[in-house]
Amino acid sequence: MNIIITGGAGFIGSHVVRLFVEKYPQYRIINVDKLTYAGNLANLRDIEDKENYRFVRADICDFDTIYHLMQEERIDGIIHLAAESHVDRSIKDPFTFARTNVMGTLTLLQAAKLYWESLPEGYAGKRFYHISTDEVYGALTVNHPEGLQPEFSAHEVYGDTFFTEENKYQPHSPYSASKASSDHFVRAYHDTYGMPTIVTNCSNNYGPYQFPEKLIPLFINNIRHRRPLPVYGKGENVRDWLYVEDHARAIDLIFHQGAIAETYNIGGFNEWKNIDIVKLLIKTTDKLLGRAEGEDMGLITHVTDRAGHDMRYAIDSRKLQRELGWQPSLQFEEGIELTVRWYLENEAWLENVTSGDYMKYYKEMYKQ
Ligand code: NAD
Ligand code: DAU
Repeated sequence: MNIIITGGAGFIGSHVVRLFVEKYPQYRIINVDKLTYAGNLANLRDIEDKENYRFVRADICDFDTIYHLMQEERIDGIIHLAAESHVDRSIKDPFTFARTNVMGTLTLLQAAKLYWESLPEGYAGKRFYHISTDEVYGALTVNHPEGLQPEFSAHEVYGDTFFTEENKYQPHSPYSASKASSDHFVRAYHDTYGMPTIVTNCSNNYGPYQFPEKLIPLFINNIRHRRPLPVYGKGENVRDWLYVEDHARAIDLIFHQGAIAETYNIGGFNEWKNIDIVKLLIKTTDKLLGRAEGEDMGLITHVTDRAGHDMRYAIDSRKLQRELGWQPSLQFEEGIELTVRWYLENEAWLENVTSGDYMKYYKEMYKQ
């Protein structure tokens, strides 16, 4: 197969590209990424010289480039991760989110449609796999503030309801509204033109190579430098966390074995209140830095809440577990320790992305 992976220089995309390049030497993997502030080719240094890998710097909104690339590489499958992904940025700049997440997805769909429909075999053996988020379902309520431990969950749950694939879409932020819109376009291309599409909605990811504007890498970096930790509101909001490599494994499985036109929720039944994660991050970082465990608790600073802050996300991923046999591989405490260790050991990567040096480098390299 010849596969385009969009957004492969970002956080989750780089893990998906690495997995596919290493696991499937018989496939050709084309990473299409615009290299926005969130895209960083250093995330893929270890595989960039592999024969089955090619990087193309392109904007997914650029129809001509995408269409010609599909023809040139005779593309069979698209795994679409490129997006503007940070909720706080979407509150300040919603237009960029509509452009990339909605128009970019539509551009990819239309390029794939025209190319695949021009082939003698049409859509046979083709696949358009769209990576989406649990945030499209809106927010759940917290009605067990102290947490409960039902049988199906690896960790406490904070409410009686979960996002299933049947949930109605109720996005609240410009980010989630743009992702919801893109999901609708993907389904419309299946229902209207017969394109073989799949959509998955995943919970919060964590792990190496996440841009340090997101909670976990931002806070690890701040603890290391003993900077304040800006907890929005009371820190009572609940997120459901999954180690990024478990998401990448799910994407691999669903790309190959998922049913066309289906939606799968991806999540590890791992709900945490933000404030509890922050305390775990402080303890783990202090321990790994040889500081007294918990000595940095004083860095916690409660700040004004995020506008429209969703209270709780909790994914019911039993369909994926039941139908395709996927299971998360790591317990959260284990994954957090691996993650903290990675950021502490990769100081140069962190310094580079926080100083913006990598952007200067790419601007020179591509004269843009
Ligand atoms: P990220 O912000 O780390 O990476 C996004 C990548 O897309 C970057 O490499 C960026 O350069 C690229 N990109 C942005 N605009 C582009 C454009 N116009 N053309 C081409 N490339 C462009 O994002 P992430 O956290 O890795 O998320 C990847 C995908 O997974 C997104 O679609 C996101 O909605 C979804 N998702 C993320 C999470 C999470 O917790 N991070 C959870 C569920 C779903
Ligand atoms: O649920 C999946 C989504 O998870 C993805 O679709 C998004 O792309 C991804 O960014 C993430 O969205 P969140 O808004 O949940 O992630 P973030 O890391 O920004 O915030 C996690 C929680 O921590 C959230 O409740 C807000 C809070 N927070 C975040 C930051 C950056 C803080 O309290 N302080 C902070 O400084």
